[in-house]
Amino acid sequence: MKILVLNGSPKREKSDTMHITRAFLEGMQEAAPQVIRTIDVIDRHIEYCTGCFACKMNGGTCMHQDDMQDILHTILESDLLLFSFPLYCYGMPAPMKTLLDRTMPLSSMAMQKVGDRYAHVGQADFSRLRYLMICGCGFPNSRHNFEPAVAQFKLCFPENHTILTIPESPMFSALEAAAVTEPRLALVRQAGKQYALAGSIDEALLSQIGSPMIPEEQYAAIVNGLGSTPRVDLERMSTQKAAEPNAQYAAHESCSTQSVDLPEMRNTNRNTQDATKDKGEYRYLSLRECPEFLNSAAAWFHEKWGVPRKAYAACMTAYLNRETEYGWYLCLNGNRIVGGLGVIENDFHDRKDLTPNVCAVYTEEAFRGHGVAGHLLGLVVQEMRAKGIMPLYLVTDHTGFYERYGWEFLCTAKDDSGNASRVYIYR
Ligand SMILES: Cc1cc2nc3c(=O)[nH]c(=O)nc-3n(C[C@H](O)[C@H](O)[C@H](O)COP(=O)(O)O)c2cc1C
Repeated sequence: MKILVLNGSPKREKSDTMHITRAFLEGMQEAAPQVIRTIDVIDRHIEYCTGCFACKMNGGTCMHQDDMQDILHTILESDLLLFSFPLYCYGMPAPMKTLLDRTMPLSSMAMQKVGDRYAHVGQADFSRLRYLMICGCGFPNSRHNFEPAVAQFKLCFPENHTILTIPESPMFSALEAAAVTEPRLALVRQAGKQYALAGSIDEALLSQIGSPMIPEEQYAAIVNGLGSTPRVDLERMSTQKAAEPNAQYAAHESCSTQSVDLPEMRNTNRNTQDATKDKGEYRYLSLRECPEFLNSAAAWFHEKWGVPRKAYAACMTAYLNRETEYGWYLCLNGNRIVGGLGVIENDFHDRKDLTPNVCAVYTEEAFRGHGVAGHLLGLVVQEMRAKGIMPLYLVTDHTGFYERYGWEFLCTAKDDSGNASRVYIYR
């Protein structure tokens, strides 16, 4: 399928919404190979429509000579138009709206009745075109928020449309929130796969994707710089907040859309992380963010797993020197290492083809049950995905634990002593 992604976020690839869009496309590609072209709308030269209607009367030629000709041409060659944009003032950002206005040449001046309303008659055959809207927003509530954008999209594209709305989107760009965003992105991938295979997405799945990842009060508190660190809370809250019925518009009526200021989530997270540090609570860091921990981390992993300290130190040094992107991640409580894991080529098993491996996952006993391992797993998945290192594998004897974080049992493998272990995959 030829997919044209119109990225309407002025933040280009750093867009919160594009995290969701990329996951959706990954899901589609799991089902079948796709031809994807992405346009960052903000970078295109697109003049405003002047409303002269010339294009509607001259067969489709606009008076402006700009990038829109190429975009219209690409639209006509596509099978799917994917509009990925953040909610701005309850609608789409201005550059995206400018582009939409400039699709005027695609229809003529003639009007026809469609059901109980009128629409312009197309100047080309669009019957095969499908339309997808993926819209993220900064508030936790969907109701009294997404409705205008959703209504506009449905009116512009009455047929063949599918709409995903996702509240609390700045969390997708916050590494600290990986424990809750990664499972949500796994659902989005599932939706992408469904869409590619069946042409539609289950209502229940759409609802789940459109529900807040953490309770709205908690989210607002974090954004306002008052919330506690996401560590325990995000993970616990996310399990409490399993999909509500009709969650797409199910956010509580009581949420005030007016009273919450909307600072960038990332800045706020930085603040909460600092506050966390002051309180001596948990910090989740890659070793590159705290290279001074190299020796103590190597000793800590050696103590937990019995693998020579030098072996850990060698892998970590290669990572710090950027000889490899296979990273090491720590959870610190104050200055104490209380959890950690790493990524290596092969975790001592005979399935050398299943690489790389997340290894040495460990949480100090006194700190278990606080979501430390889940958070570290979310972090490593997010970082590796950002570097294009997917899928990941891990070897374990546990059953039921890794499944909670989106890992799937794949097969068994033999360790160096010939014992069978379970291999999990994260796609
Ligand atoms: C000008 C502007 C208007 C916004 N209006 C809304 C809004 O009406 N409702 C909402 O929930 N969030 C609103 N937001 C927040 C963004 O939707 C939110 O930060 C989103 O995650 C940004 O996504 P992006 O990174 O993909 O651009 C607004 C942000 C800006 C900059």
